[in-house]
Amino acid sequence: MNASPFTLLVIPGDGIGREVVPAAVSVLRATSLPLRFVEADAGWECFRRCGEALPSPTLETARAADAVLFGAVASPSHPVAGYRSPIVRLRRELDLYANIRPVFADPPTADDPHARRVDLVVVRENTEGLYAGRERVEDGGATAIAERVITRRASERIVRVAFDLARARCAARNANDAPPAKVTIVHKANVLRETCGLFRTVALEVAQAYPDVRAEEMLVDTCALQLATRPERFDVLVTTNLFGDILSDVACAWGGGLGLASSANLGERYALFEPVHGAAPDIAGKGIANPLAAIGCAALLLDYLARRAPPDVAPDILAWSARIQRAIRHVRAVGPHTPDLGGNAATAEVTEAVIAHILTS
Ligand code: NAI
Ligand code: MG
Repeated sequence: MNASPFTLLVIPGDGIGREVVPAAVSVLRATSLPLRFVEADAGWECFRRCGEALPSPTLETARAADAVLFGAVASPSHPVAGYRSPIVRLRRELDLYANIRPVFADPPTADDPHARRVDLVVVRENTEGLYAGRERVEDGGATAIAERVITRRASERIVRVAFDLARARCAARNANDAPPAKVTIVHKANVLRETCGLFRTVALEVAQAYPDVRAEEMLVDTCALQLATRPERFDVLVTTNLFGDILSDVACAWGGGLGLASSANLGERYALFEPVHGAAPDIAGKGIANPLAAIGCAALLLDYLARRAPPDVAPDILAWSARIQRAIRHVRAVGPHTPDLGGNAATAEVTEAVIAHILTS
């Protein structure tokens, strides 16, 4: 990879993607990092305009970029011939097999004694499972069947990502009283004996190679309850596609909801960062979408670039990421807040507050 500048492909997509992605870009532009931005089209509006949801130049530019920042895309409420979700296709084309969703909530304070100390990451397998796309109908439509595909290869690589991440987070905590690294392997192998059975077997095998990381296993339904009631007990969770989709939404409630939930999609060669939320047609165009989830993606993107940057550049990139994360926490704590967080600030005001904080902290 080039030492500098880094080329970032920006795909705003539809709805509030067009409002929150520019906000994240303006935060990135406010850093002094050598970043070059290229914009490309994808989504439902793009499909209506040019007949393609993910035009090939967009895909080619994604392959050539150092990372992709993606907003959200809308889907038509009824099936439309030829329309396939561009984000699902991008994940597949770029083999972005690891979906990483961190959730952070500040510890209790005198002001808010009911707050929880939450600092967890859901690592979700992104390419197979029940989302493998193997659905069909039989009996003239009276029976619908979905096949769940679990492979040793995909399970092994996603579980490795989780253990490596737990190890890195533990090293970054860097305090004597910091909790040890822990990975919770989530499955339902007592019922889904073959598919979850294989995932569980492989996960426990991989765990053997990480004696410094505590491994535990948990059934998915138990995990849902534990995430809703004792989120502070988790560090890194790793699970299959559908379970991870649902559990990460449960977990994000602790982090301030959808307006604050960021995610990374990582593969061997490519990386794409996107807020967890969708196009939000109910508030699109009003200028009140919470930009913090997209801005959080900018921080995750910088962490990723730092891991690939030359050693003399990496610390500066990491410092900017840390500044952005601190600014998000600050704005979340003291405002200004968009309506989803109970305030009446506009997207632009929140973005300006974040930029002011990173430039002065
Ligand atoms: P959504 O995430 O777009 O919205 C759910 C609710 O949360 C809405 O009330 C919305 O106003 C609110 N919300 C979401 N993000 C917000 C933000 N940043 N600030 C303030 N409020 C926010 O999910 P929904 O309504 O189920 O889907 C809407 C469209 O988005 C659909 O067409 C769906 O297919 C698409 N979608 C796309 C995704 C993607 O591109 N990865 C993910 C989820 C949905
Ligand atoms: Mg989801």
